[in-house]
Amino acid sequence: MTTTPTADLARLRERRWPPPPSMSADHAVSQALYSGTWTSGPYTHNAETALRELTGAPHAIAFQSCTAAIHAVLLAHDIRADTPLHTPAFGFAGTLTGAAHIGARLLYHDVDPNTGNSIDPLASPGAVILTPDLHGVPHTVPRTPDVTVITDSCQSLGTLVDRQHIGATGTHCWSFSATKLVSAPDGGAVTTDDERLADDLRQLRDYGATPGGVRANALITRPGHNWRPSELSMAIVADELTNRLPFAAARARDVGARVHQTLTDTDLWYQDIPDGTEPAFHKIRTGLLGHPARTVNRFTTALSTAGIPYHAWGRIPLHEHPVFAPRRADSLRVPVATNLADTTVCLGTESCPPWTWTDEETELLCHTLESIMETVL
Ligand SMILES: Cc1ncc(COP(=O)(O)O)c(C=O)c1O
Repeated sequence: MTTTPTADLARLRERRWPPPPSMSADHAVSQALYSGTWTSGPYTHNAETALRELTGAPHAIAFQSCTAAIHAVLLAHDIRADTPLHTPAFGFAGTLTGAAHIGARLLYHDVDPNTGNSIDPLASPGAVILTPDLHGVPHTVPRTPDVTVITDSCQSLGTLVDRQHIGATGTHCWSFSATKLVSAPDGGAVTTDDERLADDLRQLRDYGATPGGVRANALITRPGHNWRPSELSMAIVADELTNRLPFAAARARDVGARVHQTLTDTDLWYQDIPDGTEPAFHKIRTGLLGHPARTVNRFTTALSTAGIPYHAWGRIPLHEHPVFAPRRADSLRVPVATNLADTTVCLGTESCPPWTWTDEETELLCHTLESIMETVL
């Protein structure tokens, strides 16, 4: 077993993401800087157009962050204090920040042991389900006329299903923050095929004012927020959606496929991929699902000793989190979510994600994992 970090694996701990701006992004930011418009201008429009073209969704509405975007979608669906909201117990706080502010009643569900994603919560008619595409693998909760499904697609930018980018139908919330494949100082968006929702979101991000007019108290018809993104960030987002994302996503898919081959060969757990899906892996989750703590410790210690960077994303499942498991949360039995949190980790780090690894580094990491697994079990 490899016991000392090699220089190449140690390099994987060095910051590589976000990368320096491309010349075209640099130019776009400079143009935005001198445009005299800080919000709601041509770069926000360009980013929304680029996202519509990428996903095929009829409507795109840009926000300051995905957290704000999700919050707005919940408000637009009339989620209020004590409204039940179905959500998986395994995930990231940002999915539920808006829900926590609103005081929604969180109904936690377990996740699929094969994908780590939501299982169909079989919610009753009228229910609202908020669920992420874990690490780039799209969830498969059915969109039926009876229930509202809101997808947190923060981690699935670049993912293809049947060769098409996801997001043409339904409602998806996207992030362009530092660790994402499109990485700006901040930024998020919603894409949707629901025109009424799109209109509501434009109002909610702009103080509650009717979109398109001058900003005046008289135009405010409901309480909104100031969730408009800055033109500087949107200049980067618009440029990167067109010029950087295709390459970063292709690399995320290739590195993900190579590493998953090793995870299969070594009997490590990994996320199953639905047929026809090519995830742009935002993170590569693996580990010894369901194994005793001492075996899991042996595995993570061996990763550290060999110099393979990893991080424990999701270590506290949301139903156990002090902020997201208040008295209002109804915790159903969620053994898989707890197990995933306890026994799996993500390869790479947020500042050195898989799509930044070279072929040589990826091969070295795979061979190191193979030798680790010869002794861990
Ligand atoms: C699954 C998930 N949801 C929500 C968020 C929040 O996105 P933002 O930083 O754009 O608010 C993130 C960001 O890391 C995320 O990974």
